[in-house]
Amino acid sequence: MLRRFGDGWTFVPTVPGLGCFFGGAAGGGSIGAGGGGYRHVPVMVREVLEYLEPREGKTIVDATLGGAGHAAAILDEGARLIGLDRDPEALAHAEALLAPHGEAFVSRRANFSDLAEVAWELAPEGVEGVLMDLGVSSHQLDSPGRGFSLRCGGPLDMRMDPDEELTAEVIVNEWEEGELERVIREFGEERRSKAIARAIVRRRAGKPFRETLDLAACVAAVVGGGGRHHPATRVFQALRIAVNLELEALERALAAAPVVLKPGGRLVVITFHSLEDRIVKQFLRRRSAAELDRPEWPGPRPNPERTLRVLTRRPVVAGAGEVGRNPRARSAKLRAAEKLEGGAGR
Ligand SMILES: C[S@@+](CC[C@H](N)C(=O)[O-])C[C@H]1O[C@@H](n2cnc3c(N)ncnc32)[C@H](O)[C@@H]1O
Repeated sequence: MLRRFGDGWTFVPTVPGLGCFFGGAAGGGSIGAGGGGYRHVPVMVREVLEYLEPREGKTIVDATLGGAGHAAAILDEGARLIGLDRDPEALAHAEALLAPHGEAFVSRRANFSDLAEVAWELAPEGVEGVLMDLGVSSHQLDSPGRGFSLRCGGPLDMRMDPDEELTAEVIVNEWEEGELERVIREFGEERRSKAIARAIVRRRAGKPFRETLDLAACVAAVVGGGGRHHPATRVFQALRIAVNLELEALERALAAAPVVLKPGGRLVVITFHSLEDRIVKQFLRRRSAAELDRPEWPGPRPNPERTLRVLTRRPVVAGAGEVGRNPRARSAKLRAAEKLEGGAGR
C-alpha cells in the first residue's frame, strides 16, 4: 500500500487484516454458508430500522444487499425482503447468509436502475419500503482483484458487475485526454483534473496502466501529499463512478421508488459522497414540494410531481460511537421520505 511519510508517499507491503483482503476468487473472500469471509459492517442499522419500520406483513426491497447486514436486521423484524445486488459475489454471500429465512427472502442479481421491473415481477402489489445503501462494500473495496482500492495492488478493474465490459483500465488507457479530465473533474470533484489527465496520457504513451498502485503513484506525483486522504482518492472515486454509471443508476432507481412504493411506504437512502447526496436531496425536494414557482408565472402552481413527504429535514449522520467503531460511517448520510396517500405511482 501507499503510506504517507513526511511529505511523500511510499509503498508499504499490505497484509491481511491491515486493509487488503487476500484470497478467494477474483481477489474476493471465501463465501461460506453463514457468510464467512465477507467483510462489511453495515452503517446506521438502528436508524434504517427506525425509518423503514419493517415488521410482519410488510415487504421491503433492499436494493444494495452487499454484506446483507441491513437485510438480516430487516428480516429479523419479521418483514419479507426482496434483495438485489449487481455483484454476483455479494449476492451469493447474501443468499447463503439469509437462507435460514426461507421464503421471506427473495433475491435477484440486478442493477437497481431496474428496480421498477424487478419489483413489478416480485411484488406487483407494491412494497412498503425501499433501502439503498450506496457505493461499494468494504469487502469489494478491500479485495485486491476487484481493483477498487488504491491501497491494494490489483488490476484496474472497478466493475461491480464483472459481466459489464467497461473497466477502469479502458478509461485510463483509451479515453481521450478531454474525456478523462471531465470524468476526474465531474465525478471526483478534483481541482487538479487537467494536470492529472495530462500526466496519465503522457505516461500511458510509453507504458499503459495495468495496476491500481501504478495509477495511484502517478496521480500522487501530480497532486502531492498533505491531505488527510490519499492524493488519488478523488481520481479513484471518479473512475469507479464512471465504470459503473453510478449516478445514472441512482437517478433511475430514485425515479422508480415512488412508483413501486405503496402509499405510506418509505424510501431510505444512505450516501457516502456529496455527488450522490446532492442527487438524493434534489430528488426529494422536487418530489415533495407542494408548489412550483417560476418568474414568468403569475403565481405558484401545484407541483404535479409531488409524491413524497420528506422525513429527514437534514441528513441523519452516524453517532460518534458508531464512527469510532466503524470509520466508514463517518461520511454516511441518511435521507428518508414517505410516499403520500394518493401520490402518483402505479
Ligand atoms: C455499501 S454496500 C451495501 C451494504 C449492505 N447494506 C450491508 O448491510 O452489508 C453496496 C452494495 O450495493 C451494490 N450496488 C451498488 N450499486 C448498485 C446498483 N446500481 N445495483 C445493484 N447493486 C448495486 C454493491 O455491489 C454493493 O454490494
